Amino acid sequence: VKIIKLGVIGLGTVGSGIVRIIQKNQQKIRETRGCCIQVKTIVVADRTKKRKVDLRGIKLTDQINDLLYDNEIQIAIEVMGTIQPAQTYIEALLKNGKNVITANKDLLATNGSHLIKCAQQNHVNLSYEASVAGGIPILRTISNSFTADQIIEVSGIVNGTSNYILTQMTENHSTYREALHNAQALGLAEHDPTNDVSGKDSAYKMAILAEFAFGTTVPLEKIAVSGIEQVTKNDILQAQKYGYTIKLIGQAKILEDSLSVSVQPMFVKKGHPLANIKDENNAVLVTGASVGEILFYGAGAGELPTANSILSDVIATIKDIQLNITGSKFNNFSRTTNIIDANK
Ligand code: HSE
Repeated sequence: VKIIKLGVIGLGTVGSGIVRIIQKNQQKIRETRGCCIQVKTIVVADRTKKRKVDLRGIKLTDQINDLLYDNEIQIAIEVMGTIQPAQTYIEALLKNGKNVITANKDLLATNGSHLIKCAQQNHVNLSYEASVAGGIPILRTISNSFTADQIIEVSGIVNGTSNYILTQMTENHSTYREALHNAQALGLAEHDPTNDVSGKDSAYKMAILAEFAFGTTVPLEKIAVSGIEQVTKNDILQAQKYGYTIKLIGQAKILEDSLSVSVQPMFVKKGHPLANIKDENNAVLVTGASVGEILFYGAGAGELPTANSILSDVIATIKDIQLNITGSKFNNFSRTTNIIDANK
């Protein structure tokens, strides 16, 4: 049986999840894809750190070159996060003929077009299912299932931390500070939670979602973004009094012939599909001209849900390697749409 060798950069929550999920599903992968997957090398910052995952048979290194110049490794997974050095590593990997899978939303939302071009020029795949709404298989679904329909709107709750905070403030009457503290203790928030609560993390994800739903690159500066820092207990009480709940909503929608993208706290009427999304869960509501509304709901982060999305990219990449068709765009749909500057 052919063994496909992988390299992983980063061994935090998601990196450990990848190792675990591959170990657990080896048999199934072999049956469905007719090959084995082996994590050969993991690049980490600190080799001496104690790890909670079984690393037998895996080379742990602090040298990116051990992955970059290993000709046996066809697929590299970047789960270290933050823009640098991830961007430099990914670019070098693509140029070295490696297929790359990443969950790095910050990087994709800011430099995605450049990296996508780089992958195409080098005939390798760049896929990033896990970058939006963690465990929800939303990007490939939008790519594959709406080819014959026109998406009019994509809206959703795509930041687990802020949804958790708003839920705690609404249901447990926690203060904003207490709720943020709990979200950090649960490991939901980014290392620095500023982007979670300011709406920026949601904006990154909306830019990526819009790329898939509308085939167009959305510059971040055109997205009007406001977060949940200013939401008070009193706002929530007022909303409840009139039958609403407050949610941080990302919205990308067609207005006449132009696309508008925004992230802001909104009053959502009880009974609306997004009003019931609680705790750290995520949801994406897609409206198609023919199909109407479809709601995708699930875990927006976490070790195994995110690792599962990454594995779906691994499996899809293996299929492309087997068919010798790597190098096609993850989102094959391109269109030039006028984008409304939502800040004006
Ligand atoms: N900090 C992010 C969130 C993690 O809270 O949704 C997943 O991208």
